[in-house]
Amino acid sequence: MRIPEETIERIRQSADIIEVIGDYVSLKKRGQNWIACCPFHHEKSPSFSVSPVRQIYKCFGCGKAGDPVRFVMDIENISYPEALRFLAKKYAIEIAEQEVSPEELLRQNERESLYIVLNFAKDFYKHYLLETEEGQSIGLSYFRERGFLDDTVQAFELGHSPDQWDALLQAAVQKGYQADLLEKAGLVLSKEGSTTRQYDRFRSRVIFPIHNVSGRVIAFGARILKTDKTQKGAQPKYINSPETEVYHKSQVLYGIFQAKQAIRQEDVCYLTEGYTDVLSLYQAGIKNVVASSGTSLTIEQIRLISRFTQNITILYDGDAAGIKAALRGLDMVLEEGLNVSVATFPDGDDPDSYVRKVGTAVFKEHLQQHTHDFITFKTDMLLRDAGDNPFKRAEVISEVVQSISKIPDAIKRQVFFQKTARQLQIDEQTLISESNKLLRKQQDQPQRQGRDQPKTDSAVSGNAIDNLLESAFGDDPVLTESTPALVPKKTAQKNHSPLYQHEEECIRLLLNYGPVELEPTISLCHYILSELGSMEFTTALLQEMLAEIQQGFANTEIRGADYFLRHTNQEYVQQAIHLVTQRYHLSDGWVKHEIFVPTEIDKLADAAYTNILRLKKATAETKMATLKVKIVEATDSEEMDSLMKDYMHFKRIDMEISQLLGTVYSG
Ligand code: UTP
Ligand code: MN
Repeated sequence: MRIPEETIERIRQSADIIEVIGDYVSLKKRGQNWIACCPFHHEKSPSFSVSPVRQIYKCFGCGKAGDPVRFVMDIENISYPEALRFLAKKYAIEIAEQEVSPEELLRQNERESLYIVLNFAKDFYKHYLLETEEGQSIGLSYFRERGFLDDTVQAFELGHSPDQWDALLQAAVQKGYQADLLEKAGLVLSKEGSTTRQYDRFRSRVIFPIHNVSGRVIAFGARILKTDKTQKGAQPKYINSPETEVYHKSQVLYGIFQAKQAIRQEDVCYLTEGYTDVLSLYQAGIKNVVASSGTSLTIEQIRLISRFTQNITILYDGDAAGIKAALRGLDMVLEEGLNVSVATFPDGDDPDSYVRKVGTAVFKEHLQQHTHDFITFKTDMLLRDAGDNPFKRAEVISEVVQSISKIPDAIKRQVFFQKTARQLQIDEQTLISESNKLLRKQQDQPQRQGRDQPKTDSAVSGNAIDNLLESAFGDDPVLTESTPALVPKKTAQKNHSPLYQHEEECIRLLLNYGPVELEPTISLCHYILSELGSMEFTTALLQEMLAEIQQGFANTEIRGADYFLRHTNQEYVQQAIHLVTQRYHLSDGWVKHEIFVPTEIDKLADAAYTNILRLKKATAETKMATLKVKIVEATDSEEMDSLMKDYMHFKRIDMEISQLLGTVYSG
């Protein structure tokens, strides 16, 4: 269901950046702008800045930036159309969506149809649970026996599926949904080799709908009612939806929709294993809880959590095998820079049974006393296993050092070296040098692949092979020479063309100062565009933006920052924000904006002139480099002559420009 273009425009016009962001963080006025601690990463002093004038935000800490729509997308973790709907609701803008017939529905975007049919199924199961006699006497009484209150049943939209082969299928078909769509949604199955004999996947089970972060139902878990496992033999306790177009198990956490607000408020996310753990804790007033649904934690799930908090506490039951399996995945969480803790429960209890046994107050107290940071917890576990065996103890040290080395923050690493040194009863320095060895091994890898290095020496030593494998399969952060700390891969630089920085500077000048007149009647935009002529940028995005500016100029419109900041193309918006805020990195942050700009305007003519020269020089150099290769490869002398002539032509340009540049700036 598309949102009409005019409505999108109205939403964009109405959404005020201060109001939208103000719903999530408390903003403080600072000069022209507003500041806050960034909601996207953990920080103690504010580097998140919001400009009401430009209607944009930017975090100088983590680099997140955008307009009101982008903010809603990122903070709520929802898609572009979902964000528009969200804002429409906030500003009471009606979205004229036509009532659609099921036939039309099918023609529309498949994902959208899947959501709709999944929602239908959710309503169907809910209705059966709450409104039918069988539902009440079987499903609802099961939930009540387990102690789930009506509010909880409501909040998680629990349901019950009838004890029939195709109750859902029939109801859906009657409503006009095609069986095919139900199958794509994972709701019905076909009898082998047949497309006509279809039946419901979930029969005679209580239903746990799985919501995505914005509250849409994307899948189901269905629990068998019989508590006696032996009775029905091979029947599994839970049947879950298969992977579908809208359900990717590895990216989903059960309960995230119901928990996200509380996670942000409490600044910690409790991670459990099962549906019922989430329900019980929620009911006990501990609402910042999600479940990984019986699978080991994935990187996508961690990133999902990290949108709301940097702190994860894992709640596992007491059985040691489960804990050990879980420990393996956790280095990955450290690598993402999150703070991980582990809480344990008495043997035989999971969070669900324990909270029911002892109640909220005691449960919370238990958490306080039995939560340890992951490193300490891991060290402790491994040490207990190793006993007095010195070889095993050495292994423990190396394992723990490995985990600590994954932490991107140098100060945190330092703290853990101190703490675990005490725990392991060895010298802190031993741990640090052990870690440095590891880091150095990782540091070697980008150099080995560097272009100055002969390609052939690689596969010789065992180390080199390790490095190759690591760079092929591992996602270990890369180490830079200047900082001994690990640099998270997010900040890794893209591979840009050699012309990139000059092209970017050119667009930056156009965006910020397009209309400024360098001489009477000659605007900067006019000057730069005529100097560029038909030259094209090598960076696709910048070339697109340049083309937009040229198009505007042909119609006597100077398209500057405001044009791109309000553009529907999010890539333009991001680039524009980067370019209008870039300079502030060099000064003291956004606050100095007004002070900085006039000095640049004074030198604007110089800046534009220099930029054009540098662009032309870099272009000539690129041409020369290409020609050089061709000259080496040339076979007949005529071709060689012609190539040489071209080469000399660009060489001359290059030298002339160098001279001109020398008279403007040094460099
Ligand atoms: P549990 O067996 O701990 O289930 O499995 P539970 O949620 O605590 O349920 P109760 O309390 O016994 O009723 C943990 C999670 O593993 C997945 C489910 O997501 C479950 O919540 N699981 C378990 C399955 O997917 N299939 C199964 O057969 C069993
Ligand atoms: Mn359980």
